[in-house]
Amino acid sequence: MNSFELFVNENKNKLNIFAKNYIEKLEIPTLLKNSIIYSLVNDGKKIRPLSFLYLLKFYNIDFNKFFDIALAIELVHTYSLVHDDLPEMDNDDYRWGKLTNHNVYGQDVAVLTGDAMLTLTFEVLSDANVNNDLKIKLIKQLANYSGAMGMIAGQIYDVKQKDFKVNAEYLKRMHSLKTGRLIELPLSFACLIAGKNSEYDLIKNFGKELGVAYQIKDDILDYYGKFEKIGKLPSDEGMITYLSFYGVEECEKLLKNHTKVAIDIAKKLENDLLKDYANYLLQRDK
Ligand code: IPE
Ligand code: IPE
Ligand code: MG
Ligand code: MG
Repeated sequence: MNSFELFVNENKNKLNIFAKNYIEKLEIPTLLKNSIIYSLVNDGKKIRPLSFLYLLKFYNIDFNKFFDIALAIELVHTYSLVHDDLPEMDNDDYRWGKLTNHNVYGQDVAVLTGDAMLTLTFEVLSDANVNNDLKIKLIKQLANYSGAMGMIAGQIYDVKQKDFKVNAEYLKRMHSLKTGRLIELPLSFACLIAGKNSEYDLIKNFGKELGVAYQIKDDILDYYGKFEKIGKLPSDEGMITYLSFYGVEECEKLLKNHTKVAIDIAKKLENDLLKDYANYLLQRDK
């Protein structure tokens, strides 16, 4: 079994339990607590927090001490999807094989649940057990990658694509921002925590390539994947995606190319674990 797959099998459940306990303990309205847990603790792949812990492990760091930072990473991802599914955005009814948050808790509570998860992300990070200089670096990067300069910018390019000229460069920029940044982030977090400053640029480039590949695969799976596997229904009708722009064969090629560039970087870093991670994402079927 691929080493990343093994790592997922060993740690995904632990992460779900950690997340559930953490939210359970908060003194917040029960409705909000239930809504956060509904979207946070589920059958999602959790590849962002798990890739963070996995790279820490490669650097010989006791990754068990960093589940809180892993939780912060997953919180920001989950918030982005709760809002992404809202009727005003992608208007999706299913996610993780069950009704989307707003279909269970209502749009008002879903908006507030996303808001609560995003702000909680920064509270959790502020409490993390790393020195203050590093903590500020992590907080700033998370704000930058998830906010106006990162994921939100990508979401704007996505939902408002009718206002722009959609071409190859546009699509790549959109993918890098809306999805890529949050794939890059966990890897650079691990690198910063491990103090591997000399590897930082290569790790970031690895994450960038994988981030674009990740959204190409998502577009393919959204169209060809089965609900039983991917837990969501085809969406994006009438929108230009990599798939509608390039067609499936070219998309498969682009997916392989971006993954190959990432793997070449992993080789340069002599990091077999990252190679396994890239291959795992290439072959994923959900
Ligand atoms: C879905 O992300 C949205 C994208 C940014 C591509 P994931 O596929 O990683 O979400 P999970 O695993 O269902 O949480
Ligand atoms: C979601 O992109 C990216 C986010 C920043 C949330 P999509 O809208 O393409 O992802 P799915 O298909 O809903 O998971
Ligand atoms: Mg979307
Ligand atoms: Mg969507």
